[in-house]
Amino acid sequence: MTFRIAPSILSADFARLGDEVRAVAAAGADLLHFDVMDNHYVPNLTVGPLVCAALKPHVQIPVDVHLMVRPVDRLIPDFAKAGANIISFHPEASEHVDRTIALIKENGCKAGLVLNPATPLACLDYTLEKLDLVLLMSVNPGFGGQQFIPSVLPKIEAVRKRIDALGKPVWLEVDGGIKADNIASVARAGADTFVAGSAIFGAKDGYAAAIAGMRAQLAKVV
Ligand code: DX5
Ligand code: ZN
Repeated sequence: MTFRIAPSILSADFARLGDEVRAVAAAGADLLHFDVMDNHYVPNLTVGPLVCAALKPHVQIPVDVHLMVRPVDRLIPDFAKAGANIISFHPEASEHVDRTIALIKENGCKAGLVLNPATPLACLDYTLEKLDLVLLMSVNPGFGGQQFIPSVLPKIEAVRKRIDALGKPVWLEVDGGIKADNIASVARAGADTFVAGSAIFGAKDGYAAAIAGMRAQLAKVV
């Protein structure tokens, strides 16, 4: 199993974002997770395509855009132009989920669907085979630094089974409250890609130590 760690810039120092993304990439991040919030779909407001485009030249690793916006479609071409490699969206925020997936792919990006803790897996019916990534939220979206919701663990197992049954290498990413002390259980449940904001950007010993600590835990997962 290839494991990927995706630091979320939500917990970075926004006054020094360029330095922060360079530092976290140098510290061993596999992806840069870019949380986009609109004060409509979620009760918080962050950054848009202009900031994504400004950061893109500072990192070689793929940019993993998590759209927490409604409506979603009109932002997709803008994020593709801004350098997004992966674009994920919430089904509740799209009028036509299949159309949004197609739009992401037409714009040259990998497509992901994001399921909130209470969103049923039924939204993967007729979509999973078209997706590159499923992102399971392990907190309710809107804020960094929340507690991991353990009822998501059996949900991760259920999605892992569906991906394995499909036989296509769809990534299974989990986002919210992930730290060195729970990342192994999230991996054992079947996740391969781990978003971490506060656990990396808030780490006392630095970003490289935080990422290495997570990888050490992942190395114990068989
Ligand atoms: C929440 C965001 C997450 C969040 C993760 O809506 O999608 O990416 O920033 O932060 P932590 O790791 O602090 O829960
Ligand atoms: Zn996120």
